[in-house]
Amino acid sequence: METVRGVLAGSQLPRLETQMLLQHVLRVPRSWLIAHDTDPLDPQAVARFQRLAGRRLRGEPMAYLVGQREFMGHEFKVGPGVLIPRPETELLVETALRHLDKPGLDAPRVLDLGTGSGAVAISIALACPRARVVATDVSVQALAVAADNARNLGAEVEFLCGNWYEPIAGQPRFDVIVSNPPYIAASDPHLEQGDLRFEPRGALTDGGDGLGALEIITRGATSRLRPGGVLWMEHGWDQAPAVRSLLQSTGFRQVGSSSDLAGIERITGGSL
Ligand SMILES: C[S@@+](CC[C@H](N)C(=O)[O-])C[C@H]1O[C@@H](n2cnc3c(N)ncnc32)[C@H](O)[C@@H]1O
Repeated sequence: METVRGVLAGSQLPRLETQMLLQHVLRVPRSWLIAHDTDPLDPQAVARFQRLAGRRLRGEPMAYLVGQREFMGHEFKVGPGVLIPRPETELLVETALRHLDKPGLDAPRVLDLGTGSGAVAISIALACPRARVVATDVSVQALAVAADNARNLGAEVEFLCGNWYEPIAGQPRFDVIVSNPPYIAASDPHLEQGDLRFEPRGALTDGGDGLGALEIITRGATSRLRPGGVLWMEHGWDQAPAVRSLLQSTGFRQVGSSSDLAGIERITGGSL
């Protein structure tokens, strides 16, 4: 009979990934694997592990194989059809929360455009329960996952389907608009590498030079933000100067960028 120790010794995957897949298949914490490393394993569980390990060796993202990814301390359900939340995007949430902390914003309105798994909108709603959070996405599949995540995590978010600002027509203006839109240029070879090969194309690229969605969101924000409201967007490692000039030429003030832990300018924003 196969044991945890045997599976770990025979796996071609990194030890951590083997452990994560075993935990997922056996539904046990890491400590169980250590305490029971010579226990015989159910052959069906071993077969399920082998199938997942084979998919991982063919490049499928770990988050899709285990069906979840941690973001801002919460477990988000993910799957094919929805972007896997990235740690860099936590900067967007933290920046929005700092603005929401300012005095005078009693029941602030927040809009998350292109919500995907709902990671940004739900994290804001959980950290700032007095905020009224609205989130849109063009993908019905993503919105179904986002709604599930909100339910599981106990967050109140209004999810709406449609093209960027279309579904919020007639709504009052917002104090904060955030977005992590598709910003990779269609010609970028990274789209054919790593996890990106498995993620929805429409979540990654605007199909053009990578600035298309950032432009639509910036221009649309001027008539959807209250005076003093802020827009913050995530973008590619080399897009900060272009996004700053876009915001400035659209009439935003206090335009600036913030860097992630790797020192890369990751988000840019401004206020009206
Ligand atoms: C980079 S993903 C971000 C997902 C999530 N906000 C996150 O940070 O993990 C971009 C999202 O924008 C959505 N999207 C793409 N085009 C859109 C459009 N025209 N209108 C609304 N959402 C769109 C995609 O479906 C995708 O969920």
